[in-house]
Amino acid sequence: MNARPLLCVVGLAMACFAASGPAKAQKFDQLAQTPPLGWNSWNRFACNVSEQLIRETADAMVASGMREADYQYVNIDDCWQGGRDAQGNIYPDPRRFPSGIKALADSLHAKGLKLGIYSDAGEKTCGGFPGGRGHEFQDARTYAAWGVDYLKYDWCNTEGMNAASSYATMRDALHAAGRPILFSICEWGENKPWEWAARVGHSWRTTGDIFPCWNCEVGHGTWSSLGVLRILDRQGPLRKYSGPGHWNDMDMLEVGNGMGEDEDRAHFTLWSMMDSPLIAGNDLRGMSDSVRHTLTNREVIALGQDPLGVQAFRALADGDLEVWAKPLANDEWAVAFLNRGEVTLRNSYDWLRYPIGDGQTNRNVDAGRLEYHWTELWTHATGSTAHALELTLPPHAISVYRLAPVAGAKARP
Ligand code: GLA
Repeated sequence: MNARPLLCVVGLAMACFAASGPAKAQKFDQLAQTPPLGWNSWNRFACNVSEQLIRETADAMVASGMREADYQYVNIDDCWQGGRDAQGNIYPDPRRFPSGIKALADSLHAKGLKLGIYSDAGEKTCGGFPGGRGHEFQDARTYAAWGVDYLKYDWCNTEGMNAASSYATMRDALHAAGRPILFSICEWGENKPWEWAARVGHSWRTTGDIFPCWNCEVGHGTWSSLGVLRILDRQGPLRKYSGPGHWNDMDMLEVGNGMGEDEDRAHFTLWSMMDSPLIAGNDLRGMSDSVRHTLTNREVIALGQDPLGVQAFRALADGDLEVWAKPLANDEWAVAFLNRGEVTLRNSYDWLRYPIGDGQTNRNVDAGRLEYHWTELWTHATGSTAHALELTLPPHAISVYRLAPVAGAKARP
């Protein structure tokens, strides 16, 4: 009989610990098996956060149908902090969050939602509020006691610090605190987190901040924020690092923050196909029908939530027309046609002529051997790969087809 469990049971916890060695440092493994869905305050509200905003956003998430479409996290970004007390415990700004974070988390949980919070690996956050440095274990215990479910951890004011070990410290702190908290790494891709963060966090930002534009870059001195295509074009080599529990994060969504409907849909479709977290960044309380419709397109959301967890890739490029493809479970595929440019594209796409192949997973859309039925996920048009596709794509528009092999269809000669 093995004596060790018995020792543990009779309460000799230290002896038990000494006999089995230190616990292996780890993250909470079962979280984010598919990319997280939620909302974050930063893109639309910056520092204007309050418990009223969070409560109203949670209500809007329910009323708009977003919760039904699987959005779960309501995340407070920077500027929620009041300071640290004499014992070093972090507390929220009492003016903005008079009821405290625990009460807020409880009210979200009662609605079937989860609460996210923000901090930073440095001494101060990007907004100049107290960061986690030197308080990692204490803060993690506070977040766990409050009932926090998601922590976005930023990288401002970290001169001289090592990213991999700093984030590993916070991972260990969260694990030691015992509450499963999704750990969202936000160091903007500066230290190649895709190479080390799969064992540390559940997602990592791959670029600097997003901006609600199609293809712009807005300079801020030492850094610049990036439009949709600028972020998309930086993802190619990162594909192989993404998978269940550890995702490339292309930053929070700008749907509903000023781009056109076609641009919003293309942005949303691409982020889902790339298995990025889908964290809405608009004001959910006053959404137009068009924005709500975009954010709650469950068939598009299902592409990112597919259990295979394989990020899309650029399969073909012909001038401003690009074809993006994503293998799905059960030999299905998502294939998107993107018009990057400024003029409407009219094109006939012959599935037989352009087979799509994925070297990473050894899967192919081989319409020459197999027939697929398709559904376009914005218009719900249907068809078959036996016929060429007639495409009309306005500027900055996307159309996305879900392909399913026809049951019992014989391979073509
Ligand atoms: C950084 C992050 C943003 C946001 C702000 C808050 O810029 O990348 O997403 O969290 O800080 O100050």
